[in-house]
Amino acid sequence: MRIVIHRTAQDAGTALARFVARVLQLQPDVTLGLPTGQTPILFYRELVALHRAGEADFRQATTFNLDEFAGISGDDPRSFRTFMRKHLFSHVNLPPDRAHVLDGGRKDWRSEIREFESAMTAAGGLDLVLLGIGRNGHIGFNAPASALAARTHRTRLMAGTRRANAALAGGDWRRVPTHALSMGIGTMLEARAVVLLATGSDKAGVIGRALRGPITTRLPASMLQLHPNVLVVIDRAAATRL
Ligand code: PGA
Repeated sequence: MRIVIHRTAQDAGTALARFVARVLQLQPDVTLGLPTGQTPILFYRELVALHRAGEADFRQATTFNLDEFAGISGDDPRSFRTFMRKHLFSHVNLPPDRAHVLDGGRKDWRSEIREFESAMTAAGGLDLVLLGIGRNGHIGFNAPASALAARTHRTRLMAGTRRANAALAGGDWRRVPTHALSMGIGTMLEARAVVLLATGSDKAGVIGRALRGPITTRLPASMLQLHPNVLVVIDRAAATRL
């Protein structure tokens, strides 16, 4: 595991954007796993800037988002599909049919997760998965539990996770959906490379425990210690408990 500590959250976002642009240059048909949340916003902003500068070409790339809320459609302003459109998809030349986000509005969610898995398999699996981390140690919406799902599944969201996503619902966490669809831990660990992005002092505790503590399903991000190719991109504020 390689840990790179940047001075600020902005520096971390800029460095990660440069890293991903370089990956796109070296492997134009790369398959990426993509996160949402407050943390990656700076990263996406820099990545869009690199695209505009001609340094990040998505024409041959394929993406799979880690997760999506259940019970709302991709057009809903609270959805991660909307987030991705706002922060990345509408600004770059990624073909829409290769920008995969789970459809949380689909009643037949079992078919939805099955088809998402098939699309990932057809794409040859993830080359690089970019992850955020929740204060409780979740990656995607894989929350602490006595057992974790390996593959894409439907899950109930913890109250703290709904509160952390309140910004998507006009600040009212009760309007954040109660369930979500999420990629599983097994899929993430099978990606050829993993990058974990975390910034801010409120992530320092969980970063310390996830990277230095015991591996446990009670802290899903700790499972990343099992992966042979992990890059951790953090700022100084998130690095104080390492
Ligand atoms: P955040 O979310 O960036 O909004 O803190 C991270 C996550 O839950 O993965």
